[in-house]
Amino acid sequence: MLRFIPILALAISLTEQVVTPELVPERNYRFPVDDITVESIIKESGSLSKEEAEKRNFKNPVLAYVAPWNTYGYDLAKKTAKKLTHVSPIWFKARPYRQNGALQCKVEGSPDIDRSFMEALKAENWQISIVPLISFEKWGVEAPRFLRDTAAQTRCAHQIVDFLTRNEFDGAVLNMFTTFSFVTRAASPGYKKMIYEAMEEFAQQFTDKSLEVIFSMVPSINSIFYENDAFSGTDFQRLTDMSTFLEIDLFGIPLDDELLEVSPYDWLYKGLKHAENGGANMSRVLMGTHFFGYQNTDPMNFPSPDSSLGEVANKELMEKLKSGKVDIKWDADIWEHAFVHKETVIYYPTLSSLERKFKLAEHFHVGVAIWEYGQGLDYFARVF
Ligand SMILES: *[C@@H]1O[C@H](CO)[C@@H](O)[C@H](O)[C@H]1NC(C)=O
Repeated sequence: MLRFIPILALAISLTEQVVTPELVPERNYRFPVDDITVESIIKESGSLSKEEAEKRNFKNPVLAYVAPWNTYGYDLAKKTAKKLTHVSPIWFKARPYRQNGALQCKVEGSPDIDRSFMEALKAENWQISIVPLISFEKWGVEAPRFLRDTAAQTRCAHQIVDFLTRNEFDGAVLNMFTTFSFVTRAASPGYKKMIYEAMEEFAQQFTDKSLEVIFSMVPSINSIFYENDAFSGTDFQRLTDMSTFLEIDLFGIPLDDELLEVSPYDWLYKGLKHAENGGANMSRVLMGTHFFGYQNTDPMNFPSPDSSLGEVANKELMEKLKSGKVDIKWDADIWEHAFVHKETVIYYPTLSSLERKFKLAEHFHVGVAIWEYGQGLDYFARVF
């Protein structure tokens, strides 16, 4: 699932066009870009020794999303459980629900709960937090009503907290901000205030029950580095103060005519810098990054009727590589490897691009959240 971020309109000011500094001298990276070849990927990507699977190279939190439709991610999470601090199964949706006319919510998706997977994770790493994603989806006209109705928020938060406690989860990831800001046009300051207050109510109830609360958020800058007004002043500080973690999804760059990539390095840097400047407690920030690749057909003429951006997972990439017709090159503008075949370009993570992203996270003292784990290659875990 490629999560293109709904565009938050109203770009208000251009962030400073600072050049991203060189954080680490090129020679100090463990995975030089030239070492990554088609052959090396074919040969090594499936192998991960016990030591590589367990020894941590990154000191901040790492959260892995795993999806029920891709159980490869479950296997990988079990194998690398000692280097993950959080696992977030994509199991649940929070939907609006009316009981005797009163608005509240219900959690859907319980059949997806996989107890043996949860037990296996805890057996490998008893400290690991299992924090499923509760995706607020399809709220439609109920969204603005919900935001105005604090009693409904209290009922909904209570419902969710109760659900998590009963099922022995350690907390949850909530994407309320993204959902509600989209349907209510966060651009309106009145709604923004209400969304933040609703989040505070949820955060309070989670905290009271010692549950971790992680809010996933859209990025605060668009593809050309404009800030959107969902985050201004001390908003970042407020958001990290209220939550265990604030996950800023720095992939799925807002779609516009310029789009050729999903998560260029400069953009990542500026997204984190913006949070830092906004007073975020950076040790409570997770940099949302991706383990899937994306394919750009006919990139020279993007956007054109023939061009499209599609998601590419591990299996598909490996098939293409094994066909022997793919060239690999390092794209120095965005700091990712490009896999090129005729008119098609695939950007897919490599040890080099991932290492540079993790170093960036280290520089800003933030953790990393990976969407989604099962779309990557086994040996990616060597990086962190
Ligand atoms: C920032 O978050 C960390 C981790 O939760 C916490 O220990 C620290 O006190 C926070 N710092 C501030 C200034 O609130």
